[in-house]
This record gives sequence, structure tokens and C-alpha cells, in this order.
Amino acid sequence: MVKASAPGKVFLIGEHAVVYGEPAILSAVGARCFVEAEKSRDSNVSVKTSTDHNLEFSVEECREYARRLKEMWEECNKRTDFSEIINEFKKDWRNYYRVGIGFILEEFGIGEGVRIIIESRIPIGSGMGFSAAFSVASIKALSELFGKGLSQEEVNDLAYRIEKLNHGKPSGADNSTCTFGGLLWFQREEGKPVINSLREEITHRFDDFVIVNTGSPEMTTGELVQKVRNLREDYRTPRVKRLGELTLKMKKALKEKDMESVKEVLNEAQKNLTELGVSNRNLDKISENVMGIGGGAKLCGAGGGGIMLCYHEDKERLVKLIESLGFEIIEAELGSEGARIEG
Ligand code: PMV
Repeated sequence: MVKASAPGKVFLIGEHAVVYGEPAILSAVGARCFVEAEKSRDSNVSVKTSTDHNLEFSVEECREYARRLKEMWEECNKRTDFSEIINEFKKDWRNYYRVGIGFILEEFGIGEGVRIIIESRIPIGSGMGFSAAFSVASIKALSELFGKGLSQEEVNDLAYRIEKLNHGKPSGADNSTCTFGGLLWFQREEGKPVINSLREEITHRFDDFVIVNTGSPEMTTGELVQKVRNLREDYRTPRVKRLGELTLKMKKALKEKDMESVKEVLNEAQKNLTELGVSNRNLDKISENVMGIGGGAKLCGAGGGGIMLCYHEDKERLVKLIESLGFEIIEAELGSEGARIEG
């Protein structure tokens, strides 16, 4: 039996813009996804999910499904419309597990059955990177179980390929953060990810951010990315560019621990993301209220609901405000460790 884990993540800044080549800053968070894997005698893949569902597929069915989705992805890519891929998961949520494990077994050339148990504190589909953390932790666990000895870079590369089958054309920021951990600068240059750890530059801790669960998004990441892609280019581009500038401003502010600027960046990012059409009523409500007490707040990840990152120098006051609005706080520190095998 092997147990591996990967952290969830938040975008401090740069979601959506990152899809168009702008930089983003992400942080791994203390809520992790644990994947336990062991070989089984039969040729089945059994998965006990973090929500206590017991799924059972045959190895061949999973591998075949992963092959089919890879072909479908190529077709979608030619049309730059990934709706068909995204619909696979709307039709049946179990397909996330089928394709994830199927892809890994296919890559590793494994025909044996495996038993997988997932334990996770990362809310699913909420912008905290559950799908990436699950892929990363599964690759890490199965690579160890079958003696593949993958490097972190190889784990990250495979996880990105699974993320594409899940979401169409994601930036790769989620899987990179879940693999490498810490605080990351992320940018795609000519389609290639440039990932730099900010650990050396930003050494102090950030304890006063608050992560809020605003409820499940109404749309998937893939759909929200597609929604932004469908906007008129001359409307989208200035907002995307501004988000890129805000990422630079955020880096400087974090380095200098200039929390006034951090709040300004959060609020301006939220405004731009709202204009890109990815906010919703709960997010707007929290944003307005947090700004009302002089704090900063922005949605995290694809949006349409999900988690929100908030900051106020008086954390207690902020927490009280959020709770009085009826929302749940997710306790998770920023900057936690990347994927690892559990001892
Ligand atoms: O909501 P998440 O965790 O899936 O993050 C999506 C972030 C986007 O920038 C909207 C897309 C991406 O792949 O980076």
C-alpha cells in the first residue's frame, strides 16, 4: 500500500488572464487530497471517493475511456471548442475518476487492478484545485506503487495532460501548484509553462488571509473558461491585460508586506473578473461587504461561485462579518508543501 498527498491551491491573482498568457500568483494551501493505492488481485479499478462513493470500473474500460477522451480532445482542439469534453463530465461525474485513473494506467502500461481510497478536505469543483490535487496525488501514489520513480516535473507533466482531458485547455497553473507547493509565479509563454517558486523572494508567512466557501459554482471550470473565450476580443483583452498588471503589483506588495496594496489588488481583480462575467450574487455580496469594512476580496479560480480569498488586518472582524453573512470559512494556511509520499 502506498499513500501520497497533494495540497489544494488558491489563485492569489491572475485566474482567467493566465489562459491568455498573463502571469499569475498561486499558493498551495493546507487542505490536502490524500490518495491511498494498492494492487488488487482482480482486474478492476475500485475507487472510494472522498464523498464516500464506491466506484468500480474494469481496467480496460478505464484505459479505453482515456484513449477515447484523448482523441476527443484533439478534435475539440481543432475547433477551439471544448464543450464536447466538458459535457462528458456533466453527463456523469464518475468520468473524472474513470479518465484520471485510466490515463495513468494507460501511460504506465498497467493491466493489473488497483484499489484507491481518497480522503480530501478540498471542496470539489470550487476553485481550490481538487481535480488537480487528485490527479497529482494519484500519479504520485501509482508511480510509487508500480516503481515508476517519476520526478516532480514528470508528475506535473502527466497531471497537466489529465487536466486537459478534464477541463479542455487549462493553463496548467493548478497542477503545477499542487505538485510543487509553496507560492508560485506562473505564466505560459508560447504555450509552455514558466513556473518560478517565490519562496526566496517572499519569505514571510501570510496568516491573515481568509478562504471562504461561497457554495458550489453553477458552471464548471471548462464552461467558465469557454464563456470568457466567447467574449468579444476587444472587450476581453483590456481586462485580461489589467489582470496581468495587477499580478505584478501583487508580487511587489507581497514582497514588501504592503497589505493596503494587496487589498487594492484583490478588489480591482474582483472588479475585472466580474466584468469578464465570472462572478455571481454570493461573490458580489461578500465583496461589497468586505470592501465596506475596508478589506479586500476576490473570487478564486474559475468563479461562478466556489471559494473567495479575503483579507483584512483585523482577521477576527473579517471572520465575524463573513459568518454573519452565512458563509463557511475554510481553515487552511497558505504556502504549504507540494506533492509527497506519506510516511
Ligand atoms: O477553478 P479552478 O481551480 O479550476 O481554476 C481555474 C483557473 C482558470 O484560470 C480560470 C483556468 C486555468 O486553467 O487556469
